[in-house]
Amino acid sequence: MAKDLLARLHAAIAEHDVTYDEFQAAKQWLIDVGEAGEWPLFLDVFVEFAVERNAFRDRAGSPGTILGPFHLPGAPLLSAPFELPRRPDERGDRVVFSGRVTDAAGEPLDGAELDVWHADADGFYSGFAPSLPADILRGKVLTDADGRYEVRTVLPAPYTIPLDGPTGRLCSVAGWSPWRPAHVHLIVSAEGHEPLVTQLFLASSDHLATDIASATKEELIVHPEAQAGSDELVVTYDFALAPAAVSATV
Ligand SMILES: [Fe+2]
Repeated sequence: MAKDLLARLHAAIAEHDVTYDEFQAAKQWLIDVGEAGEWPLFLDVFVEFAVERNAFRDRAGSPGTILGPFHLPGAPLLSAPFELPRRPDERGDRVVFSGRVTDAAGEPLDGAELDVWHADADGFYSGFAPSLPADILRGKVLTDADGRYEVRTVLPAPYTIPLDGPTGRLCSVAGWSPWRPAHVHLIVSAEGHEPLVTQLFLASSDHLATDIASATKEELIVHPEAQAGSDELVVTYDFALAPAAVSATV
């Protein structure tokens, strides 16, 4: 793999007639990415989608997509009725996500866990943006005996990757849109099943066709709907989990 990667790089150098000045500029940019601590960002934005599509190309159940750099594993396990923690004056349309978690054959999974996190109405994540309180808009919810889940929160906004570092500079120089469409992240897990890392994308969002992380999939686009007599939007989405991979035993 490493040898192949280098051989492809060497071929690209010849194909693009790379000069010493360009090599030195690229070398400095790679050093800058490391010094800015942006390797996780760069890899999650420009590489992870290809690994996800390859690793799970034959997996049963619902489609997944990238994890991204903003997951915090220690989010609190919430109690019913499930509602992600938020500020009293949290902006964004109120929404309830609900549906079922089943196995790949459609049998409900009791006690499946949905780890949910998303950006706020300004596109910022708690735990990463100093302007936000810790732990808001993150939490874990459980399904009931019929595999049903329900979680209340607010709709997130689209956001750009950081623009002031070397990864943002690359986008600017290359003329790439730095935006991610509005989305909610989930990891859906249940004993005996493969965890499903996924995102639900809001159909009304800009940037769906130009997601800088190449993570948007048609099957993951949801349409929040108004309901009569309520100021809360509704999204219904079911998740099906593949059976846990059987590791080779002797
Ligand atoms: Fe995200």
